[in-house]
Amino acid sequence: AGRSVVVGVGHYLPERIVPNSEFEKTLDTTDEWIKTRSGIERRHFAAEDETTSDLATKAAEAALADAGLTADDIDAIVVATSTADLTFPSAATMVQAQLGMTKGFAFDVQAVCAGFVFALTNANALIVSGQAKRVLVIGAETFSRIMDWTDRSTCVLFGDGAGALVLELQEGEGTAQDRGILATDLNSDGRYKDLLYVDGGVSTQSTGHLRMQGNQVFRHAVEKLTKTAETALESAGLGNSDVDWIVPHQANIRIIQGTAKKMGLPMDNVVVTVQDHGNTSAASIPLALSVGKQRGQIKQGDLVVTEAIGGGLAWGAVVLRW
Ligand code: ACO
Repeated sequence: AGRSVVVGVGHYLPERIVPNSEFEKTLDTTDEWIKTRSGIERRHFAAEDETTSDLATKAAEAALADAGLTADDIDAIVVATSTADLTFPSAATMVQAQLGMTKGFAFDVQAVCAGFVFALTNANALIVSGQAKRVLVIGAETFSRIMDWTDRSTCVLFGDGAGALVLELQEGEGTAQDRGILATDLNSDGRYKDLLYVDGGVSTQSTGHLRMQGNQVFRHAVEKLTKTAETALESAGLGNSDVDWIVPHQANIRIIQGTAKKMGLPMDNVVVTVQDHGNTSAASIPLALSVGKQRGQIKQGDLVVTEAIGGGLAWGAVVLRW
């Protein structure tokens, strides 16, 4: 037995920054509408020749540098993505090759915007079950590739980017006061497919575009996110007042505020990046963890709760001491 401790974090954002005002040129929308309804002010879009595995590799390199490690020190790579470069192989094996790593194993996890929480839970399970000592956990997306640019209700909301953590085995059981992943909680309910999906895929011989009934997703979000965060906290033997940082999936500032409020926590305890990144799906939490650390918000020993909901619906939370 042992625990998974975060020993490195990093991120990468594509160079091109697109402010809300860009969309005013082609769509019946305004900077004001996008800002007040979603909290988003700008987002990054990948260059035409830049793929998800490219973003993921750069984030992984940043996390390895932060940990003072090299790819040789890693046993496994888990990439959370819904926008892999190719149908197969996995984005994770492409990252593995780009890092020059020829041992260990790599695979993708697909749970849309909740993908990073699912990937982190799987990586933690690999470590505590003795199958890996160090795991790179990456969230990386190029959602700009699945936007319908004529649909103002979706295309203004998403962005591209990647974030990564290095998890390392720490021997011993530990307590809730020790560093490491303390609890996880995963959920899904496939009855809600129609609220958020891509209307294409391999089996239908197309790529498709993202379709979302945003206000319907919204109705589920605050309640399910609060419940999963509190469930995970409880299984760690902790309560809401123990939380130093909520690091939520960054889809909408109103969902983020609503969840914090329902948990009885002020926004001072929430890492917010949605204004600069938009919704980067599985990349948003590791991006926020990395930016939160850079800003001096998240410090060693802090209690962090990550929570996310997305297509499926799929949702979950991870409680960890940083
Ligand atoms: N500019 C101007 N008007 C717009 C725009 C736009 N870009 N988009 C929609 N509108 C209009 C709508 O057409 C509608 O007009 P109508 O009343 O005449 O029909 C009006 O604005 C209100 O639309 P709503 O959808 O009800 O607006 P809402 O306040 O719910 O905000 C939003 C929309 C931002 C999408 C919000 O519902 C949301 O964030 N939902 C949750 C998204 C989310 O969390 N997704 C999960 C993660 S994503 C993943 O898993 C991939």
